[in-house]
Amino acid sequence: MHIIRPSDLSDDQLDHLLREAEHWLEHNRGADKRVDRLAGRSIVLAFFENSTRTLLSFDMAAQRLGAMVTTLPAGQSSLAKGETLIDTALTIDAMQVDALVMRHPEPGAPDTVAETIRAAVVNAGDGTGEHPTQGLLDVATIHHHFGRVDGLKVAICGDIRHSRVASSTHALLERLGADVTLAGPAALMPEGHDGADGIDDAVAGADVVMMLRIQRERLAADLGDAPGEYLARYGLTEKRFATAAPGAVIMHPGPMNRGVEILGELADSEHSLITAQVEMGVAMRMAVLDLAINEPAAVTS
Ligand code: NCD
Repeated sequence: MHIIRPSDLSDDQLDHLLREAEHWLEHNRGADKRVDRLAGRSIVLAFFENSTRTLLSFDMAAQRLGAMVTTLPAGQSSLAKGETLIDTALTIDAMQVDALVMRHPEPGAPDTVAETIRAAVVNAGDGTGEHPTQGLLDVATIHHHFGRVDGLKVAICGDIRHSRVASSTHALLERLGADVTLAGPAALMPEGHDGADGIDDAVAGADVVMMLRIQRERLAADLGDAPGEYLARYGLTEKRFATAAPGAVIMHPGPMNRGVEILGELADSEHSLITAQVEMGVAMRMAVLDLAINEPAAVTS
């Protein structure tokens, strides 16, 4: 099955992924990380936008499940020679691959590819669109830490307008019963949203404070903020975090801009789940690849 946005998953599939990710999290802490769940299967990773965490964790996830992984060096691919994305996708599909994990700057690109090819398409981020596996690993990290998602107060703060993480994580959090508040500078809030700024209100009493990077590469004009200004006005400072609920945690999908949206010391503090998110990322992507390739058998296991 294709996994392009959170709504592609049924409630049963979502529950299944959360359970499986817990299983793989434990498994990955053991010495022998390899299983045969996807033995003999062929997976291509095609990233037409920069990535560290997502690319590495899909690669590790596929290898730990025993699949054969091939990474398209996108910068050196024939796209640079004028080939269309569809022709690139058809070329990959003709090589009899089982899944294509793709990241692309154009929102909707994975939908177009999924309509055309036979292999399962897994969206690793489409421009300002969706980033379903990040949303899934975020809710799994919260569930792992608190033992629930339902009823938690979550603040998602920063560049909401351009963030595919905000879209996917928000959708999954609401589906699982969290109370989500979005906050950021007016210019970085979604069109039509009346809750500009509001970071102080969003963080006060929150159980989870999730900070997002300013997607400067997707901004038409620079924000014009002086060094330190963004942090003071909209970032996570000690003073702001002190107003969160007792036992509150800090999250960030990465990459972080320390001293901009988040104070470096807070990112490294005992309240931070940022590296726990990265660890869960590999586990969740194992669950996702298994579902995308082995579905429906995977859900009944
Ligand atoms: C994010 C992304 O690429 O959407 N990073 C990630 O996948 N962990 C967020 C970002 O680029 O700021």
